[in-house]
Amino acid sequence: MSVPFSNQSTISDLQRLKELLGESLTKTGITIPEQSRLLNLACGRADEASVLADVFGKKGLQLTGLDIRDREIGEAQERWKKYLPKNAEAEFLVQDCSKLDDLNTLSDDFNIAFMRHQNFWNGDTTWSKIYDQALHRLNEDGLLIITSYFDREHQLALDAIQNLGAELILTEQNHHSRSLHDVPLGVKKSVDRHVAIFRKP
Ligand SMILES: C[S@@+](CC[C@H](N)C(=O)[O-])C[C@H]1O[C@@H](n2cnc3c(N)ncnc32)[C@H](O)[C@@H]1O
Repeated sequence: MSVPFSNQSTISDLQRLKELLGESLTKTGITIPEQSRLLNLACGRADEASVLADVFGKKGLQLTGLDIRDREIGEAQERWKKYLPKNAEAEFLVQDCSKLDDLNTLSDDFNIAFMRHQNFWNGDTTWSKIYDQALHRLNEDGLLIITSYFDREHQLALDAIQNLGAELILTEQNHHSRSLHDVPLGVKKSVDRHVAIFRKP
């Protein structure tokens, strides 16, 4: 069943994201369990939910998507209650991800924490807290995976996450990412421009 998105480019962006994640994981040599518990932080509308199910949950994905904005979470709930692949279960909650301890029911044995298009430039303290909280919610083999829109922002996130003690396993530029032009002239922004994979400290 094809998932409807208002932006015409979303489907091809998601296809590229799926390839990027698959190729990057292959390069690390890490075998992803066929069943995963995945925390999708600052997920917005969680457009990528079915990609996550394909990549991380061949035999099952339990996805928890969190974002501070209720409109985006509402859209995620509406879309995925109808279109989520059969191998996945998902809940989408309005939550400040720098305060995950407030969410009493949230488990601490996720094997993947995923953050697409982190916003490090938009409040480095908050984002460092979000990464820290994410790492605390992973089991001992857990991976934190991020993507970024910008080169400089990606580097800031790499530094911040390593300062929290996580091991950087891989960082890659996505040479097939779609350029975006909603930025000042000279600034390069593109969809899933970089990906990085970290191991929990
Ligand atoms: C650039 S958007 C990326 C959204 C989505 N991951 C994507 O790729 O389309 C950044 C997201 O971070 C969310 N956000 C910002 N601060 C947050 C916080 N403290 N807790 C949870 N979400 C937050 C915003 O609401 C927004 O949806």
